[in-house]
Amino acid sequence: MTEHIIVERRGAVQIIRLNRRDKRNAITRAMYAAMAEALAVGDADPEIRVHVFLGVPGAFSAGNDLTDFMEVAMGGESGSEVWDFLAALAKAEKPLVSGVDGIAVGIGTTLNLHCDLTFATPSTVFRTPFVDLGLVPEAGSSLLAPAILGYQRAFALLALGEGLTARQARDAGLIHAVVEEDQLETEVLAAAARIADKPPEALKIARELMRGPRDEILARIRHEGEHFKARLKSDEARAAFTAFMDRKKS
Ligand code: COA
Repeated sequence: MTEHIIVERRGAVQIIRLNRRDKRNAITRAMYAAMAEALAVGDADPEIRVHVFLGVPGAFSAGNDLTDFMEVAMGGESGSEVWDFLAALAKAEKPLVSGVDGIAVGIGTTLNLHCDLTFATPSTVFRTPFVDLGLVPEAGSSLLAPAILGYQRAFALLALGEGLTARQARDAGLIHAVVEEDQLETEVLAAAARIADKPPEALKIARELMRGPRDEILARIRHEGEHFKARLKSDEARAAFTAFMDRKKS
């Protein structure tokens, strides 16, 4: 579907790799669609027991592609790919593990709020500049981040756009562990293999008990999405996107 998402199977582990190096793994509509598809296919396949998200060295993701945002800001249609992916993420029936190195902006941060285990490297910074872009939190982060981090840390992250280093994220409960860059994928895949070795039925129930019903989170993603779509067409957002596009012009 797109060469920017590579889906690979290693035994019972499905790896979904963001692979758009030249754009720091900014996520296009085609990439959201490919990730939603991979989650659906993996969830439906009894041989897959865990999904793993990985990026490229130095970039997990720079967030939503701002060119795509600009198109919507200028009157284009936003499409259903983002919603399809976020719904698949929130409803994923198999555990989600992520390995984050370097850039983790916007959805590159909020995706991890849905993961069961996230590993990140010392050079990682989690950042969500939604408000600076004239936007609002997405992916259920307005519900999940206050629950995980406490309100004030969530406010600093989501509203002020203050970054969290990997160690701060670990201490705040946002991620599971900090590992060196050259160990990231080994540790992530070892954790995925440990998950895949657990009795799947017991694990499924344990996970469902801990995550709770999905209705509230799906409703929040939809509610955020309504605001988000409206904000994309706001003067504040248009000005921020234009500033990003023009930043390299002298
Ligand atoms: N959407 C589209 N393109 C993006 C992008 C995004 N979110 N993030 C980075 N890119 C592109 C840049 O335009 C640049 O493309 P070019 O080489 O054709 O000019 C390329 O990726 C490299 O980015 P650059 O800014 O030169 O790299 P950097 O290492 O100096 O900075 C970031 C990396 C992520 C800090 C910076 O690119 C950035 O702030 N990006 C926007 C992040 C963002 O606001 N995301 C939306 C969150 S909701």
